[in-house]
Amino acid sequence: MTQDEMKRKVAEAALEYVVDGTIVGVGTGSTANMFIDALASKKGVIKGTVASSEATAKRLAGHGIPVLDLNDALTQVASLSVYVDGADEFDGGKNLTKGGGGALTREKIVAAASDKFICIVDETKRVKHLGAFPLPIEVIPMARELVAGVARKLGGNPVLREGFITDNGNLIIDVHGLVVTDARALEDELNSVPGVVCNGVFSHQGADVVLMGTPGGVETIV
Ligand code: 5RP
Repeated sequence: MTQDEMKRKVAEAALEYVVDGTIVGVGTGSTANMFIDALASKKGVIKGTVASSEATAKRLAGHGIPVLDLNDALTQVASLSVYVDGADEFDGGKNLTKGGGGALTREKIVAAASDKFICIVDETKRVKHLGAFPLPIEVIPMARELVAGVARKLGGNPVLREGFITDNGNLIIDVHGLVVTDARALEDELNSVPGVVCNGVFSHQGADVVLMGTPGGVETIV
């Protein structure tokens, strides 16, 4: 089975967690795109969706699936029923690295607004410790060098994502070479640096369930 086939299987498996009549949070990336395509079968059955990026909103709308602004959604319901998204890495504690597509801030917001986070990945994303994938940090432009300096002190090698501006008008710094033994502590430490909008460690907003595609089928990790 190819990596794309594994992604498609987990994307389809995630439909089981979609609750009829509710608002669903939708992630960003190639695996999330496959989920969006599968979700088209639930059009008219779910109340609507909240998108974690402009690209996701466009793809949802292309299927005729209603897309709500998060603030509007949260005036109708206390929380979204479920958030479905991919990840760049996950560890044994279901901590994630996200932001390869640069949508980490909105992804973390929508995940936080949802009752449950279903993470859809193929088996290549499993790691012992986060850090093999460069950690994305969204920064306010004037804080770029300040945040890069902090990343160096933490033992990482920060690299500006050239020519990339987030949906929020900010920059992304990708930090290479970190070995993350305490994901929660690193997430908190980076959040304390002025100018950091969001970092790609999802420990507070880690997955509740990981659906992992393998050549043998979909494994559910709870
Ligand atoms: C986007 C993300 C994606 O979830 C992550 O990059 C995984 O993407 P893909 O499903 O294409 O492998 O965090 O910001």
